[in-house]
Formats: sequence, structure tokens, C-alpha cells
Amino acid sequence: MANVVVVGSQWGDEGKGKIVDWLSEQADVVVRFQGGHNAGHTLVIDGTTYKLSLLPSGVVRNKLSVIGNGVVLDPKALVAEIDRLKEQGIKVTPDSLRIAENCTLILPLHSELDVARERSSGKGAIGTTGRGIGPAYEDKVGRRAIRLMDLADLQVLNGKIERLLTHHNALRRGLGMEEINARTVYDDLAEIAPKVLPFMDSVWSLLDEKRREGKRILFEGAQGALLDIDHGTYPYVTSSNTVAAQAATGSGLGPNAIGYVLGICKAYTTRVGQGPFPTEQLNEIGKTLGTKGKEFGVVTGRPRRCGWFDAVLVRQTVRTSGIQGIALTKLDILDGFEEIKICTGYKLDGREIDYLPASEHSQARVEPIYETAEGWDEVTAKARSWAELPAQAIKYVRRIEELIGCPVALLSTSPEREDTILMQNPFET
Ligand code: IMP
Repeated sequence: MANVVVVGSQWGDEGKGKIVDWLSEQADVVVRFQGGHNAGHTLVIDGTTYKLSLLPSGVVRNKLSVIGNGVVLDPKALVAEIDRLKEQGIKVTPDSLRIAENCTLILPLHSELDVARERSSGKGAIGTTGRGIGPAYEDKVGRRAIRLMDLADLQVLNGKIERLLTHHNALRRGLGMEEINARTVYDDLAEIAPKVLPFMDSVWSLLDEKRREGKRILFEGAQGALLDIDHGTYPYVTSSNTVAAQAATGSGLGPNAIGYVLGICKAYTTRVGQGPFPTEQLNEIGKTLGTKGKEFGVVTGRPRRCGWFDAVLVRQTVRTSGIQGIALTKLDILDGFEEIKICTGYKLDGREIDYLPASEHSQARVEPIYETAEGWDEVTAKARSWAELPAQAIKYVRRIEELIGCPVALLSTSPEREDTILMQNPFET
């Protein structure tokens, strides 16, 4: 019986929400281990749509949900999300949600800095979600962050705020922003503290206990491996490690706690924000994929850039995340295409390569090498068995498996959890 890590194998938005929800029914604990409220996970349960940004998907299934130390936590966003769920009839209590005491906090000054820096970067902007994710991780690594546990010790909080503001006010002066006064930050934190502190826990030890009890743990990744700070398309990435290994570091369990790595992968490719995208289709094909696939960001509402499936990228993330099985999503969006292209390699300066080069400059210049697959007219949406799929769709899936060097464990054919074809149950490997 394995603990399962779910990670995005492209640039995020692969449909993790549905798959995590599908798996969370079999799990005892669901853990978020990186990112923050920049994520947008959509779950459709009995016709009701739930949109989560920060909370682990387990909250809607009444599973013990855990926010690990690798997450950057905006306390106001947390409270707002809990309130939104309450309106939808989902109660989140300290019995159902635990948050690591050593979680770094996102404060309003982080999102302000995120937005101001993006504005002043002009063409060099990353296209961030503006949620303050990058600046908060910078403060964590700079060893000046305010952490959740600091809210429990208001005596020491003032000193920490002063230290943080020495850094931030210097930056703000440079960017022509108004300086922040320590009292405002303190009052804000003191007000929110009683609402979030009841959820605080020693997460590493709680998870260790659950593991010893033989409970099934599901680690819920956010974003995608190509947005990883080390292994992604740097600098057009998010500020955390999004690869599967982060599940260990970001929760406080050892790497041997991870049993199975499931990569979520869309049957085509999308990306939000700036950065290289070799198979992007700035034409009718891209528009059709975007419209049929409803490709708009859950968090920012921005339209996603769309293109053909890029096997080079996924083959690489299968390796950098140690992905053992793929959950392939949105195959139905390809229904009706006469032909479908798959990128199998790149051309760079007249040379053929089978990997994504590391430098930003080279990434921007690679040209995709395509092979063409035959499309299908039949509807694959809502299929629940291989037998319901047209031969061309099966051939397409088989070809993807071959090119990325990884089997498809699950095939998702609509946002509804029941519309899933199971080849291999990740929890039973
Ligand atoms: P940040 O995470 O807000 O700093 O944004 C950095 C990059 O990651 C931008 O290109 C964002 O569009 C992208 N990004 C962040 N979160 C998500 C997500 O959940 N899905 C897809 N892209 C994301």
C-alpha cells in the first residue's frame, strides 16, 4: 500500500483537482506541500463546483487535510476560503485541517511587492499570479520570514516585523512605493491570529504518526514540474520546487514515505504567464483548444496559451519527478480534430535534440519536430472504458506512453469523477 504524490507534469492546470479528488476518497490524509493560493484546483462533486486555492482537496471529502511547511500561507486568503466553503455547506474545523507551525506567512506587503515588480519589469515580467508567492519564499530563504508559530508569540512578533520591514521598506523606497509602518503589520496579524492559530500543529510529527498507523497519505502538488524553480523554464517559473521530491521536504517526512508518483498530464499543452512554449499554436488550433478546453485560469481568470502535446517536456518531467504513472486528462478536447500533432523532439541551431535545453535563450529558440496522428470524429467525453474509445484515440494514448516512457494509469474523460478509466490504482501498487 503506497502513499501517493500527485504532481503536474506540464505547466500546471493539468486537471489535478479532479484526480486528487478521485484519489482522496481512498486516502486518510491529504497534504499540500508547496506553493500557496496561486494554485487553482477545481472539483466537481455531484454537480457542485468547488474552487480551491490553498486548502487541500481533502477538505471537501471530510478527510484530514494538512498544509505542510513547504506552503506559503496567506492567513487572510485561508480564512476567506474557509468562509467560502462554509457557504457551500463544507465545514472546515481544526479537526479536519492542520497547518504546519513552521509555515511561512504571506503578508499584504508580499503581494504588493509582487505586483509592483511585475509592473516595473515591462517585457521582462514573469506573468505571476500577483499573490506574493515569490516575495514570501524570498523572505523564507532570507531568514527573515514571519511564520505561523510567530502569531502565537506576540511578544517576539514586533522584533520580527521590524527586521522584515528593514528589508521591505528599502525595496519599497527603491520602487517608489509608500513605506510600511510596523504597527499596521502587527495589528493586522494580531487580528487574524485567533482565526488561524487553532489549526496550527507539528505537522511532521502528525504525519509520522499517521504513517506509523498505516494510514494512506495523498500528497497534493500544485502548479507543474515545468514551473519548478530548479527544473522548470527558469526564470519563467514559480518560486517553489514543484517536483515530487518536494512532497518529502515540504511536509517533513523522509523521501521513503513516498510510495508512488502520479503525474497529471493534459492530452495537449497549456501555459499561463510568460515564458517559452515550443508547441504553442497562435492560430485557430490554439483558439479551438482554448475554447473547447475552457482554458482560463481559476485564480486570475487569464486565458491560457494553448498548443500541441509536447512529449519532450513530459518525458523530461517523468524523470525529474520520478513519475511512475500518468493520469491523462482532457483527451475529449481533441475530439473532432482531423489530425493531431505530437512534438517528439526539437531542432536547435540546425541540430536535433531530445531534451529541453537548460538556458532561457536556447529554450526560446527550439523548434518543435512533429509527427502527425490521425484524429477521430467520435465523442470520447464521458467514456468509462477502453472499449468506448475510438481506435485512433487509443493509438494516440499508446503513442504518448511510448514517447514519454511512462504508462497511463488513469484516463480522465470529463470533469466528473465517474468519467475515469482506470488501468492501475496508484494506491494499490
Ligand atoms: P507565481 O507562482 O504567482 O509567482 O507565478 C509564477 C508563474 O507560475 C506564472 O507564470 C504563473 O502563471 C504560474 N503559475 C502559478 N500558479 C499556477 C497554477 O496554479 N497554474 C498554472 N500556472 C501557475
